Amino acid sequence: MDHEIRLVESVVGSRTVINGREYDYYGVSSYYNLHKDDRVKEAACEAIRKYGMGPSGAGPNLPLIQVERNAAEFFEVEKAQYIVSGYLGNMLLVQALREDYDIVFVDSFSHYSIFDGISSAGKRIMTFEHLDANDLEQKLRETLKPREVPMVITDGVFPTTGAIAPLKAYATILASYENGLLCVDDAHAVGVIGEKGQGTLEFCGLKGPTHYHCGTLSKAFGGHGGIIPGDQKLMDKIKRNTRVSVGANPPPPASAAASAMGMRILMEHPEMRRKLWSNTTYMRAGLREMGFDVDDSPIPIIPVKALPRMDLKQIYQKLEKKGIMLEYVIPRGYSDAPNEDILCIKIFSTHTQLQMDRLLGTLKDSITNL
Ligand SMILES: Cc1ncc(COP(=O)(O)O)c(C=O)c1O
Repeated sequence: MDHEIRLVESVVGSRTVINGREYDYYGVSSYYNLHKDDRVKEAACEAIRKYGMGPSGAGPNLPLIQVERNAAEFFEVEKAQYIVSGYLGNMLLVQALREDYDIVFVDSFSHYSIFDGISSAGKRIMTFEHLDANDLEQKLRETLKPREVPMVITDGVFPTTGAIAPLKAYATILASYENGLLCVDDAHAVGVIGEKGQGTLEFCGLKGPTHYHCGTLSKAFGGHGGIIPGDQKLMDKIKRNTRVSVGANPPPPASAAASAMGMRILMEHPEMRRKLWSNTTYMRAGLREMGFDVDDSPIPIIPVKALPRMDLKQIYQKLEKKGIMLEYVIPRGYSDAPNEDILCIKIFSTHTQLQMDRLLGTLKDSITNL
Protein backbone atom coordinates (compact mmCIF):
# COMPACT_ATOMS: atom_id res chain seq x y z
CA MET A 1 0.00 0.00 0.00
CA ASP A 2 1.05 3.64 -0.37
CA HIS A 3 2.99 4.78 2.69
CA GLU A 4 1.90 8.40 2.99
CA ILE A 5 0.70 9.34 6.49
CA ARG A 6 -3.05 9.49 6.80
CA LEU A 7 -4.31 10.68 10.14
CA VAL A 8 -7.76 9.21 10.64
CA GLU A 9 -9.83 11.60 12.73
CA SER A 10 -13.22 9.89 12.90
CA VAL A 11 -14.66 6.41 13.15
CA VAL A 12 -14.13 4.74 9.80
CA GLY A 13 -17.30 4.68 7.73
CA SER A 14 -18.67 5.58 4.33
CA ARG A 15 -17.79 9.17 5.30
CA THR A 16 -14.44 9.33 7.08
CA VAL A 17 -12.36 12.28 8.25
CA ILE A 18 -8.72 12.01 7.22
CA ASN A 19 -6.14 14.76 7.68
CA GLY A 20 -8.91 17.23 8.55
CA ARG A 21 -11.05 16.50 5.48
CA GLU A 22 -14.19 14.38 5.24
CA TYR A 23 -14.09 11.88 2.37
CA ASP A 24 -16.41 9.45 0.67
CA TYR A 25 -14.48 6.45 1.90
CA TYR A 26 -13.81 3.09 0.22
CA GLY A 27 -10.73 1.89 2.13
CA VAL A 28 -10.37 -0.76 4.91
CA SER A 29 -12.90 -3.46 5.57
CA SER A 30 -15.58 -2.19 7.94
CA TYR A 31 -18.18 -3.66 5.60
CA TYR A 32 -21.23 -2.57 7.62
CA ASN A 33 -19.61 0.32 9.50
CA LEU A 34 -20.55 -1.48 12.73
CA HIS A 35 -17.52 0.16 14.32
CA LYS A 36 -19.63 3.32 14.19
CA ASP A 37 -22.80 1.78 15.56
CA ASP A 38 -23.90 3.32 18.89
CA ARG A 39 -24.88 -0.11 20.30
CA VAL A 40 -21.40 -1.48 19.55
CA LYS A 41 -19.68 1.58 21.00
CA GLU A 42 -21.88 1.55 24.10
CA ALA A 43 -21.21 -2.17 24.68
CA ALA A 44 -17.46 -1.41 24.66
CA CYS A 45 -17.88 1.58 27.02
CA GLU A 46 -20.04 -0.44 29.42
CA ALA A 47 -17.41 -3.21 29.53
CA ILE A 48 -14.66 -0.68 30.23
CA ARG A 49 -16.71 0.90 33.03
CA LYS A 50 -17.27 -2.50 34.60
CA TYR A 51 -14.00 -4.36 33.96
CA GLY A 52 -11.47 -1.72 32.88
CA MET A 53 -9.10 -2.85 30.12
CA GLY A 54 -8.48 -6.25 31.73
CA PRO A 55 -6.31 -8.20 32.27
CA SER A 56 -8.63 -11.14 32.47
CA GLY A 57 -6.15 -13.80 33.58
CA ALA A 58 -8.19 -14.39 36.76
CA GLY A 59 -10.85 -16.16 34.68
CA PRO A 60 -13.26 -15.30 31.91
CA ASN A 61 -15.59 -12.34 32.34
CA LEU A 62 -19.07 -12.11 30.87
CA PRO A 63 -18.07 -10.32 27.61
CA LEU A 64 -15.50 -13.04 26.87
CA ILE A 65 -18.10 -15.76 27.44
CA GLN A 66 -20.69 -13.84 25.43
CA VAL A 67 -18.53 -13.29 22.36
CA GLU A 68 -17.78 -17.02 22.12
CA ARG A 69 -21.45 -17.92 22.63
CA ASN A 70 -22.52 -15.46 19.93
CA ALA A 71 -19.86 -16.81 17.58
CA ALA A 72 -21.00 -20.41 18.17
CA GLU A 73 -24.57 -19.30 17.39
CA PHE A 74 -23.51 -17.31 14.33
CA PHE A 75 -21.46 -20.16 12.84
CA GLU A 76 -23.85 -22.86 14.08
CA VAL A 77 -21.10 -24.82 15.82
CA GLU A 78 -20.60 -26.25 19.28
CA LYS A 79 -17.95 -23.78 20.46
CA ALA A 80 -15.69 -20.92 19.44
CA GLN A 81 -12.34 -19.65 20.65
CA TYR A 82 -11.97 -15.86 20.85
CA ILE A 83 -8.39 -14.62 20.42
CA VAL A 84 -6.58 -11.32 20.52
CA SER A 85 -6.31 -10.89 16.76
CA GLY A 86 -7.42 -12.52 13.54
CA TYR A 87 -3.76 -12.58 12.53
CA LEU A 88 -3.11 -15.29 15.13
CA GLY A 89 -5.98 -17.50 14.00
CA ASN A 90 -3.91 -19.40 11.45
CA MET A 91 -1.09 -19.95 13.92
CA LEU A 92 -3.48 -21.38 16.51
CA LEU A 93 -5.20 -23.63 13.98
CA VAL A 94 -2.02 -25.14 12.53
CA GLN A 95 -0.51 -25.65 15.98
CA ALA A 96 -3.73 -27.03 17.48
CA LEU A 97 -4.08 -29.57 14.65
CA ARG A 98 -0.43 -30.55 14.49
CA GLU A 99 -1.01 -34.22 15.33
CA ASP A 100 -3.46 -34.46 12.41
CA TYR A 101 -1.27 -33.67 9.36
CA ASP A 102 2.28 -34.04 8.05
CA ILE A 103 2.82 -31.48 5.26
CA VAL A 104 1.30 -28.03 4.67
CA PHE A 105 0.28 -26.99 1.14
CA VAL A 106 -0.24 -23.25 0.96
CA ASP A 107 -1.48 -20.88 -1.77
CA SER A 108 1.57 -18.79 -2.72
CA PHE A 109 -0.36 -15.49 -2.37
CA SER A 110 -1.76 -16.32 1.06
CA HIS A 111 -1.97 -13.62 3.69
CA TYR A 112 1.13 -12.86 5.77
CA SER A 113 -0.63 -14.30 8.83
CA ILE A 114 -0.87 -17.70 7.12
CA PHE A 115 2.85 -17.80 6.31
CA ASP A 116 3.76 -16.65 9.82
CA GLY A 117 1.31 -19.18 11.28
CA ILE A 118 2.46 -22.22 9.31
CA SER A 119 6.14 -21.51 9.95
CA SER A 120 5.41 -21.89 13.68
CA ALA A 121 4.17 -25.47 13.35
CA GLY A 122 7.51 -27.09 12.47
CA LYS A 123 6.07 -28.99 9.49
CA ARG A 124 7.24 -29.23 5.89
CA ILE A 125 5.73 -26.49 3.71
CA MET A 126 4.97 -26.62 -0.03
CA THR A 127 3.49 -23.69 -1.95
CA PHE A 128 1.12 -24.08 -4.87
CA GLU A 129 0.24 -21.51 -7.56
CA HIS A 130 -2.26 -18.87 -6.53
CA LEU A 131 -5.86 -20.16 -6.84
CA ASP A 132 -4.64 -23.10 -8.94
CA ALA A 133 -6.37 -26.37 -8.05
CA ASN A 134 -4.49 -28.24 -10.82
CA ASP A 135 -1.14 -27.18 -9.42
CA LEU A 136 -2.27 -28.21 -5.93
CA GLU A 137 -3.29 -31.62 -7.24
CA GLN A 138 0.09 -32.08 -8.93
CA LYS A 139 2.06 -30.94 -5.86
CA LEU A 140 0.11 -33.32 -3.63
CA ARG A 141 0.73 -36.19 -6.03
CA GLU A 142 4.45 -35.47 -6.35
CA THR A 143 5.14 -34.77 -2.66
CA LEU A 144 3.13 -37.06 -0.43
CA LYS A 145 4.41 -40.47 0.57
CA PRO A 146 1.92 -43.23 1.43
CA ARG A 147 0.00 -42.48 4.64
CA GLU A 148 1.26 -38.87 4.86
CA VAL A 149 -1.64 -36.48 5.55
CA PRO A 150 -1.79 -33.07 3.86
CA MET A 151 -3.16 -29.80 5.18
CA VAL A 152 -4.19 -27.28 2.52
CA ILE A 153 -4.35 -23.70 3.76
CA THR A 154 -5.45 -20.53 2.00
CA ASP A 155 -7.31 -17.26 2.35
CA GLY A 156 -11.03 -17.83 1.69
CA VAL A 157 -11.35 -14.37 0.13
CA PHE A 158 -8.15 -12.56 -0.82
CA PRO A 159 -7.84 -9.06 0.68
CA THR A 160 -6.72 -7.00 -2.33
CA THR A 161 -8.32 -8.71 -5.32
CA GLY A 162 -11.40 -10.14 -3.59
CA ALA A 163 -10.72 -13.47 -5.35
CA ILE A 164 -12.57 -16.41 -3.83
CA ALA A 165 -10.43 -19.51 -3.32
CA PRO A 166 -11.80 -22.54 -5.24
CA LEU A 167 -12.41 -24.45 -2.01
CA LYS A 168 -14.80 -26.92 -3.57
CA ALA A 169 -12.10 -28.01 -6.03
CA TYR A 170 -9.52 -28.21 -3.22
CA ALA A 171 -11.89 -30.33 -1.11
CA THR A 172 -12.57 -32.67 -4.02
CA ILE A 173 -8.85 -33.16 -4.59
CA LEU A 174 -8.25 -33.66 -0.86
CA ALA A 175 -10.93 -36.34 -0.73
CA SER A 176 -8.41 -38.77 -2.28
CA TYR A 177 -6.14 -38.34 0.77
CA GLU A 178 -7.53 -39.90 3.91
CA ASN A 179 -8.14 -37.26 6.62
CA GLY A 180 -6.64 -34.45 4.50
CA LEU A 181 -7.34 -31.08 6.15
CA LEU A 182 -8.60 -27.85 4.61
CA CYS A 183 -7.93 -24.67 6.62
CA VAL A 184 -9.28 -21.29 5.58
CA ASP A 185 -8.37 -17.80 6.79
CA ASP A 186 -11.73 -16.18 6.27
CA ALA A 187 -11.02 -12.67 7.56
CA HIS A 188 -12.78 -11.03 4.60
CA ALA A 189 -15.62 -13.50 4.20
CA VAL A 190 -17.07 -14.07 7.67
CA GLY A 191 -20.17 -11.94 8.09
CA VAL A 192 -20.13 -11.29 4.34
CA ILE A 193 -20.73 -14.33 2.12
CA GLY A 194 -22.70 -17.53 2.45
CA GLU A 195 -26.45 -17.70 2.98
CA LYS A 196 -26.00 -17.01 6.69
CA GLY A 197 -22.81 -14.99 6.37
CA GLN A 198 -20.69 -17.83 7.72
CA GLY A 199 -18.02 -17.32 5.09
CA THR A 200 -16.34 -19.13 2.23
CA LEU A 201 -16.89 -22.70 3.48
CA GLU A 202 -20.62 -22.02 3.65
CA PHE A 203 -20.52 -20.19 0.29
CA CYS A 204 -18.84 -23.23 -1.30
CA GLY A 205 -21.23 -25.68 0.39
CA LEU A 206 -18.52 -27.31 2.53
CA LYS A 207 -19.13 -28.55 6.04
CA GLY A 208 -17.03 -31.50 7.02
CA PRO A 209 -15.07 -32.75 10.02
CA THR A 210 -11.76 -31.91 8.29
CA HIS A 211 -12.73 -28.38 7.18
CA TYR A 212 -11.56 -25.60 9.49
CA HIS A 213 -11.72 -21.83 9.36
CA CYS A 214 -10.81 -18.79 11.39
CA GLY A 215 -11.82 -15.18 11.00
CA THR A 216 -11.57 -11.69 12.37
CA LEU A 217 -14.15 -9.73 14.31
CA SER A 218 -12.37 -6.49 13.32
CA LYS A 219 -13.91 -6.18 9.87
CA ALA A 220 -17.54 -7.13 9.14
CA PHE A 221 -18.48 -7.43 12.81
CA GLY A 222 -17.29 -3.99 13.87
CA GLY A 223 -15.34 -5.19 16.90
CA HIS A 224 -11.84 -6.44 17.39
CA GLY A 225 -10.03 -9.77 17.73
CA GLY A 226 -10.07 -13.15 16.03
CA ILE A 227 -12.39 -16.12 16.18
CA ILE A 228 -11.98 -19.86 15.61
CA PRO A 229 -15.33 -21.66 15.36
CA GLY A 230 -15.38 -25.42 15.87
CA ASP A 231 -16.30 -28.32 18.09
CA GLN A 232 -15.21 -29.20 21.62
CA LYS A 233 -12.47 -31.45 20.22
CA LEU A 234 -10.89 -28.52 18.41
CA MET A 235 -11.15 -26.31 21.49
CA ASP A 236 -9.37 -29.02 23.52
CA LYS A 237 -6.60 -29.19 20.92
CA ILE A 238 -6.20 -25.41 21.02
CA LYS A 239 -5.76 -25.55 24.80
CA ARG A 240 -3.44 -28.56 24.65
CA ASN A 241 -1.24 -27.68 21.65
CA THR A 242 -0.94 -23.89 21.55
CA ARG A 243 1.03 -21.76 23.95
CA VAL A 244 -0.46 -18.37 23.10
CA SER A 245 -3.89 -19.49 24.33
CA VAL A 246 -2.49 -20.09 27.82
CA GLY A 247 0.54 -17.76 27.84
CA ALA A 248 -1.09 -14.49 26.79
CA ASN A 249 -3.89 -12.40 28.24
CA PRO A 250 -7.20 -12.77 26.47
CA PRO A 251 -8.46 -9.77 24.50
CA PRO A 252 -9.77 -6.81 26.51
CA PRO A 253 -13.40 -7.07 27.70
CA ALA A 254 -14.29 -3.96 25.68
CA SER A 255 -13.23 -5.67 22.43
CA ALA A 256 -15.17 -8.78 23.40
CA ALA A 257 -18.31 -6.82 24.26
CA ALA A 258 -18.18 -4.75 21.05
CA SER A 259 -17.58 -7.88 18.94
CA ALA A 260 -20.41 -9.79 20.65
CA MET A 261 -22.76 -6.89 19.95
CA GLY A 262 -21.63 -6.60 16.31
CA MET A 263 -22.36 -10.29 15.77
CA ARG A 264 -25.75 -10.01 17.49
CA ILE A 265 -26.73 -7.07 15.25
CA LEU A 266 -25.66 -8.88 12.09
CA MET A 267 -27.56 -12.03 13.12
CA GLU A 268 -30.72 -10.02 13.78
CA HIS A 269 -30.48 -7.93 10.62
CA PRO A 270 -29.83 -10.10 7.56
CA GLU A 271 -31.02 -7.16 5.45
CA MET A 272 -27.63 -5.55 6.15
CA ARG A 273 -25.94 -8.34 4.22
CA ARG A 274 -28.46 -8.01 1.41
CA LYS A 275 -27.71 -4.27 1.20
CA LEU A 276 -23.97 -4.98 1.05
CA TRP A 277 -24.55 -7.43 -1.81
CA SER A 278 -26.79 -5.01 -3.71
CA ASN A 279 -24.27 -2.16 -3.28
CA THR A 280 -21.52 -4.50 -4.49
CA THR A 281 -23.58 -5.54 -7.51
CA TYR A 282 -24.34 -1.89 -8.32
CA MET A 283 -20.69 -0.80 -8.18
CA ARG A 284 -19.42 -3.81 -10.11
CA ALA A 285 -22.02 -3.28 -12.86
CA GLY A 286 -21.17 0.45 -13.07
CA LEU A 287 -17.47 -0.30 -13.47
CA ARG A 288 -18.14 -2.97 -16.10
CA GLU A 289 -20.28 -0.51 -18.06
CA MET A 290 -17.25 1.78 -18.22
CA GLY A 291 -15.17 -0.99 -19.74
CA PHE A 292 -13.27 -2.14 -16.66
CA ASP A 293 -12.57 -5.85 -16.35
CA VAL A 294 -14.72 -6.50 -13.26
CA ASP A 295 -16.67 -9.70 -12.66
CA ASP A 296 -20.00 -10.05 -10.87
CA SER A 297 -18.67 -11.69 -7.71
CA PRO A 298 -20.55 -10.99 -4.43
CA ILE A 299 -17.32 -9.88 -2.74
CA PRO A 300 -17.30 -6.20 -1.68
CA ILE A 301 -13.59 -5.90 -2.53
CA ILE A 302 -13.32 -4.68 -6.12
CA PRO A 303 -9.94 -4.52 -7.85
CA VAL A 304 -9.77 -2.06 -10.75
CA LYS A 305 -7.01 -2.60 -13.30
CA ALA A 306 -5.85 0.14 -15.66
CA LEU A 307 -7.34 0.38 -19.13
CA PRO A 308 -4.84 1.05 -21.95
CA ARG A 309 -2.92 4.36 -21.45
CA MET A 310 -4.49 4.84 -18.03
CA ASP A 311 -2.41 6.08 -15.08
CA LEU A 312 -4.08 4.72 -11.96
CA LYS A 313 -1.92 6.74 -9.56
CA GLN A 314 -3.09 9.94 -11.25
CA ILE A 315 -6.70 8.81 -11.06
CA TYR A 316 -6.30 7.99 -7.37
CA GLN A 317 -4.92 11.50 -6.76
CA LYS A 318 -7.73 13.08 -8.75
CA LEU A 319 -10.35 11.15 -6.78
CA GLU A 320 -8.70 12.25 -3.54
CA LYS A 321 -8.83 15.90 -4.65
CA LYS A 322 -12.55 15.44 -5.32
CA GLY A 323 -13.08 14.07 -1.80
CA ILE A 324 -13.13 10.34 -2.61
CA MET A 325 -10.67 8.04 -0.86
CA LEU A 326 -9.89 4.48 -1.89
CA GLU A 327 -6.73 2.39 -1.96
CA TYR A 328 -4.03 2.61 -4.61
CA VAL A 329 -2.03 -0.63 -4.45
CA ILE A 330 1.42 -0.87 -6.01
CA PRO A 331 2.50 -4.07 -7.83
CA ARG A 332 2.86 -6.88 -5.24
CA GLY A 333 2.22 -4.23 -2.57
CA TYR A 334 0.27 -6.63 -0.36
CA SER A 335 0.14 -10.38 0.16
CA ASP A 336 -2.12 -11.09 -2.83
CA ALA A 337 -1.58 -7.91 -4.87
CA PRO A 338 -1.01 -8.65 -8.57
CA ASN A 339 2.10 -7.74 -10.59
CA GLU A 340 0.48 -4.52 -11.83
CA ASP A 341 -0.84 -1.57 -9.83
CA ILE A 342 -4.57 -1.49 -9.10
CA LEU A 343 -7.20 0.61 -7.40
CA CYS A 344 -8.94 -1.33 -4.65
CA ILE A 345 -12.51 -0.30 -3.85
CA LYS A 346 -14.08 -1.63 -0.64
CA ILE A 347 -17.86 -1.40 -0.65
CA PHE A 348 -19.87 -0.88 2.53
CA SER A 349 -23.57 -1.49 3.12
CA THR A 350 -23.77 2.17 4.14
CA HIS A 351 -22.58 3.68 0.86
CA THR A 352 -25.46 5.57 -0.70
CA GLN A 353 -26.30 5.40 -4.38
CA LEU A 354 -25.37 9.09 -4.59
CA GLN A 355 -21.90 8.35 -3.23
CA MET A 356 -21.39 5.39 -5.57
CA ASP A 357 -22.59 7.46 -8.56
CA ARG A 358 -20.12 10.18 -7.55
CA LEU A 359 -17.26 7.66 -7.60
CA LEU A 360 -18.38 6.17 -10.92
CA GLY A 361 -18.87 9.62 -12.44
CA THR A 362 -15.44 10.84 -11.37
CA LEU A 363 -13.84 7.69 -12.75
CA LYS A 364 -15.73 8.19 -16.02
CA ASP A 365 -14.42 11.78 -16.27
CA SER A 366 -10.91 10.46 -15.78
CA ILE A 367 -11.34 8.00 -18.66
CA THR A 368 -12.93 10.58 -20.94
CA ASN A 369 -10.04 12.99 -20.32
CA LEU A 370 -7.32 10.43 -21.04
C1 LIG B 1 -6.63 -12.36 5.18
C2 LIG B 1 -6.37 -11.71 6.51
N1 LIG B 1 -6.15 -12.50 7.58
C3 LIG B 1 -5.91 -11.98 8.80
C4 LIG B 1 -5.92 -10.61 8.99
C5 LIG B 1 -5.65 -10.08 10.37
O1 LIG B 1 -6.81 -9.88 11.09
P1 LIG B 1 -6.77 -8.94 12.39
O2 LIG B 1 -6.68 -7.54 11.88
O3 LIG B 1 -8.01 -9.24 13.14
O4 LIG B 1 -5.54 -9.32 13.17
C6 LIG B 1 -6.15 -9.76 7.92
C7 LIG B 1 -6.14 -8.31 8.19
O5 LIG B 1 -6.41 -7.45 7.49
C8 LIG B 1 -6.38 -10.32 6.65
O6 LIG B 1 -6.61 -9.53 5.59
